[in-house]
Amino acid sequence: MRFDILTLFPEMFSGPFDHSMIKKASERGLIDIHVHDIRRFAHGPHHVADDYQYGGGPGMVMKPEPIFEAVEHALSFHEHPVPVVLLSPQGRLFDHGMAQEFAQEPGLALICGHYGGVDERVRTSLATCDVSIGDYVITGGELAAMVVVDAVARLVPSVVGSETSVYEDSIATGLLQHPIYTRPPEYRGIKVPPELLSGNHGEIARWRREQSLLRTWTLRPDLLAKALLSQEDLDFLRRQGYEKD
Ligand code: ADE
Repeated sequence: MRFDILTLFPEMFSGPFDHSMIKKASERGLIDIHVHDIRRFAHGPHHVADDYQYGGGPGMVMKPEPIFEAVEHALSFHEHPVPVVLLSPQGRLFDHGMAQEFAQEPGLALICGHYGGVDERVRTSLATCDVSIGDYVITGGELAAMVVVDAVARLVPSVVGSETSVYEDSIATGLLQHPIYTRPPEYRGIKVPPELLSGNHGEIARWRREQSLLRTWTLRPDLLAKALLSQEDLDFLRRQGYEKD
């Protein structure tokens, strides 16, 4: 899967993608990340990529021409149409479902907004969707693009070691992950729960499920209300005092 990132700050991307799983996936040719400097497409001797806002107002606005031309350049490397995502705090909230949708695509182009915003024509006539990574404002779309690329890339087949680990992850199953432990069995007086040391696979699976349910109820009741629960899950939760409405 090919990712094209359009940014005024290409240097920000050297580092985050040069480590760990994303680096290995790039080396194995499973993903291909290209960062394009929008300023290179800005017209005039000074390559100015921003301008004042019509009607007046604070902050500079990213001009449309360099962004359109940078995106057109990036798309010329794709055989098939790909989503063009504008990262913006006004976008649709990014979640696991959206990451799964993007992971089905042959590629993704991501425009990193900056300054006081991006000329509206980029949103209406170039981007196919606007995406926000959360209800807060960060200084630019770069960190948001990194989050989206990372979350999508790990869903590309073979990027994550064992396919199942992706699907067993927190959120993917609709429940938070159960607590996990490694050796030693006791550290600073804190013991690993005996169920995990029992060697009884049935007991371990039941304990994990119950812990997932309890943790989701405590930390993310909104997820628990939407989760697909078995009768056994509901019986367990009811015994703990949970009422599903
Ligand atoms: N740019 C600034 N804030 C953002 C956010 N929350 N999501 C995506 N892009 C952004």
